[in-house]
Amino acid sequence: MRLVDDPAANLKREAGEQAALLVEGGMVVGLGTGSTAAFVIAALARRHQEGLRFTAIATSERSAKQARDLGIELSDFGHHDAIDLTIDGADEIERGSLNLIKGLGGALLREKIVAAASRKLVIIADERKMVRHLGEHTAVPVEVTPFGWESTARQLGVLGARVSARHDRVGTLFVTDGGNMILDCNFGVIDDPAGLERRIGEIVGVIESGLFIQRASLVLVAGADGVARYER
Ligand code: 5RP
Repeated sequence: MRLVDDPAANLKREAGEQAALLVEGGMVVGLGTGSTAAFVIAALARRHQEGLRFTAIATSERSAKQARDLGIELSDFGHHDAIDLTIDGADEIERGSLNLIKGLGGALLREKIVAAASRKLVIIADERKMVRHLGEHTAVPVEVTPFGWESTARQLGVLGARVSARHDRVGTLFVTDGGNMILDCNFGVIDDPAGLERRIGEIVGVIESGLFIQRASLVLVAGADGVARYER
């Protein structure tokens, strides 16, 4: 999305720039994916130019390219056991629990691997992303192996989802950075996100779901009155 088309761009920038201030010299930093995370990468590149030294692990090829183009040094899990701090966006944030739906940008698998290896996961968003219950506006993206995806989709349907295979803008099946597919699973409002994450994960053919349960440590939400902090 071009910035001029995004009415929330200023709020995303505000949240992203605040989050970028949490990075300290010498840290290993996880770089999220999406239009909000892109503001973090840009802000970190400016801090890098001013002399801040850190290493980053990116959650997508897109974010890796942006970081590399801006001069940020990238690394991988072959060189680091853990990440000190990851900053990423989200599609829905449940107000009470800080559980999340992620993956509208298609990077949920790498995002979850990076989140799981992070000492601290900071989520940034504009206020439209806050919901009372997950599933209010967003389907749960599920990354699946291409082989037999129709069968995997039927199993997800048995769990109660309306399932649609994600396509890209030109109408071909969307392919993730890992060469997999995404099935967008609309469960409606989700009563038991942790149970649902577990049941989705038990289906053969599923690689990961975009339900991020008890993973965010801090959520920064930008709105008309500034940036609100929610801590777990
Ligand atoms: C990508 C994601 C993104 O973090 C999520 O889609 C939010 O994106 P945006 O900041 O563009 O709204 O999970 O897989």
